[in-house]
Amino acid sequence: MIAPPATLGMLGGGQLGRFFVMAAHELGYRVVVHDPDPGSPAGRSADEHLVAAYDDLAALDRLIGQCAAVTTEFENVPADTLAYLSKFLTVRPAAAAVRTCQNRGEEKAFLKRHGFPHAPYADIRSADDLQNANAGLFPGILKVARFGYDGKGQVRVNSRAEALIAWGQLRQEVCVLEQQLKLDYEVSVVLARDESGQVKCFPTAENSHRRGILDVSIVPARTSGCLAGNAEEIAEGIAQKMDYIGTLGVEFIVVHGQLLVNEMAPRPHNSGHYTIDACVTSQYEQQVRALCGLPLGEARAHSAAVMVNLLGDLWYLDDKHHAREPDWAQLLAIPNLKLHLYGKHHPRPGRKMGHFTVIGADPLEVQKSALAGRRLIGITDE
Ligand SMILES: Nc1ncnc2c1ncn2[C@@H]1O[C@H](COP(=O)(O)OP(=O)(O)O)[C@@H](O)[C@H]1O
Ligand SMILES: [Mg+2]
Repeated sequence: MIAPPATLGMLGGGQLGRFFVMAAHELGYRVVVHDPDPGSPAGRSADEHLVAAYDDLAALDRLIGQCAAVTTEFENVPADTLAYLSKFLTVRPAAAAVRTCQNRGEEKAFLKRHGFPHAPYADIRSADDLQNANAGLFPGILKVARFGYDGKGQVRVNSRAEALIAWGQLRQEVCVLEQQLKLDYEVSVVLARDESGQVKCFPTAENSHRRGILDVSIVPARTSGCLAGNAEEIAEGIAQKMDYIGTLGVEFIVVHGQLLVNEMAPRPHNSGHYTIDACVTSQYEQQVRALCGLPLGEARAHSAAVMVNLLGDLWYLDDKHHAREPDWAQLLAIPNLKLHLYGKHHPRPGRKMGHFTVIGADPLEVQKSALAGRRLIGITDE
């Protein structure tokens, strides 16, 4: 067990890292954040910020010198960096798990190998692969295998001909072609797994997206307890098969009432922000606990919750060219609303600047208040 006040290392300096820093600080740990961006939100709230590339060996050696254990908030940290660090200190999740999650092709192959349900797909490494892809995959979605996020790096294609053009636009990178499915809705499960294999699942969240970016998460998901239970079982199975230690996010799409795994995130997940305000233990505290070999906390939600993402677009509602500060006082007039702003300096359209979570005993009241909150600051449903 790694006891406080030990120093923990965090690879990545975004908002997920920032919440980890806050959870670690509450438990009395020190945190060193390693991120190349000098203005990164987590870097600025950490005890120390190593401003360096993720493959900068001198910086990694400093991390090794200072830290008892290292984790990540960013699936695109080079897996080789994690493998290198693990020769000297505890690294969770392991490089192999991150390697699987950071490549859509490997992720899908993992799901297939272990019999977890997923959308029909084909690996696309060449124009020939596209020519030979099963006709049933069209209309499809061509997704780059690496570095895609928030709907970036994917193109909807109606036909093989369109797919060939799209593949050129994606610079002929290695891709996955997925059948475009008609989604009933989307859910996700965030869980934590400790070194002894014990798993605590947070309640399943129901997620809606706008322009490819998570917009709202509703908990409890408005689905049958049976489906939510199945999602948790599948997510737990995935964590076991990966021998995963830490906090893991699993995204599902629901098609004709069937759960299909969409993708995994080897870190806390945006749809798990609600756990900060609505659960006994947050997904970030679980990440700290799993990393340090401490017992996991209770994952139960003590409140219903709705989380709303606040994107940079909000800062430009009145004027496309000049940023304004949204009227937080109006939003905070909703007493059961918790506002989280990440301290990012530059609001850009589509950039995650913050979120709010409304909590309460009655799910319907919470949903109403969250909707009212969205309207108050000018988020419209177009
Ligand atoms: N096969 C599919 N059919 C229909 N919609 C999909 C499919 N795959 C993804 N989507 C939609 O696109 C969103 C983003 O896709 P995802 O694979 O999760 O990429 P990202 O890494 O950008 O989150 C999903 O949340 C879902 O709404
Ligand atoms: Mg996704």
